[in-house]
Amino acid sequence: MADLEKAKHDFLTKLQTLTKEADILNLKSEYVGKTGIVSEMLKSLKDMSPDERKLFGPKANELKDFIHDQSAIFIAKIEIEEINKKLAEEKIDISLTDNIFFKSVKHGGFHPRTLIQQEIEDIFLSMGFDVLDGPHIEDEFHNFEALNIPADHPARDMQDTFWFNDPHNPEDVAKNGKKHLLRTHTSTIQVRGMLSRKPPFRFIAPGVVFRCERTDASHEMVFTQLEGMMVGENISVANLIYFMKTILKEIFKRDVEVRLRPGFFPFVEPGFELDIRCLICEGKGCSVCKQIGWVELLPCGMVHPNVLESGGIDSEKYNGFAFGLGLDRLVMMKYGIDDIRHLQSGDLRFNSQFKLF
Ligand code: PHE
Repeated sequence: MADLEKAKHDFLTKLQTLTKEADILNLKSEYVGKTGIVSEMLKSLKDMSPDERKLFGPKANELKDFIHDQSAIFIAKIEIEEINKKLAEEKIDISLTDNIFFKSVKHGGFHPRTLIQQEIEDIFLSMGFDVLDGPHIEDEFHNFEALNIPADHPARDMQDTFWFNDPHNPEDVAKNGKKHLLRTHTSTIQVRGMLSRKPPFRFIAPGVVFRCERTDASHEMVFTQLEGMMVGENISVANLIYFMKTILKEIFKRDVEVRLRPGFFPFVEPGFELDIRCLICEGKGCSVCKQIGWVELLPCGMVHPNVLESGGIDSEKYNGFAFGLGLDRLVMMKYGIDDIRHLQSGDLRFNSQFKLF
């Protein structure tokens, strides 16, 4: 019995000094391993008298369990200490904003087009307009027919279109003759907007559009427009001009010179081209304004009665205006960018020049 007490005492004294899991496991097997001190004691049970065995057996087994338990407890303690140590060492002090970690992280920024789009949306929202969205893949109805451009109309050639082969749904195309395309303008959302609301209403719809065109300093195949539409009773060209001038003044934060020319678009009558004096060359002539000194920025006009009817609106009672702002050109004018292709380049040296978050 004294041996058992001694073994327990020795084991505990040694255990207190150990700090590594492996050492604890070694100590444990020194006592309860196959040839360990306690295991050997248990083997000697067979040489004892039945009375001795009765007394000694349970105590020896108790010690064996004790050693197993204590080893497990000490190993767990070491693990917890290690985790706590790691947590303390690897803690990030988020109040330190100018340490090396923060300095080496590059901050993202908004694309200049996004900045302008947000600004324009805010201006229009403050004037009671909704902001709508629409799909990039459209059908002929929304892109052409409902906008007073029937199938055989030469105006379809005004916008070079990316057509789909429609391999997914040939029956549908054969049945109703509607082919799919990448929308060539955001005017598609005029149709969607009209069909989903009752007059009076006013909304804008920013988004990318696609044209199968050759690119140059002022043309891209993928560019951005911001459509606008206002429908109600007794809306006039004067209302249209008022809204357009207000917007341009808010965007450029200065008076810009504008001129209105007649322009043809099948979905407006009368139709106009609103030009602004080129802000890159101040009207002297450059690649952006094609040496003319003026930049076509805002095609617009009074909504054609046929378009109102396609949108389910009584053209005898209601009228309205619509416009299609060229967002990329606006960005170019505002920030003095001389090539539209920079906007799509994804070049971080370009993008990072604009306002950061
Ligand atoms: N959708 C026309 C275009 O992309 C622009 C436009 C919109 C013209 C609304 C008039 C009215 O060329």
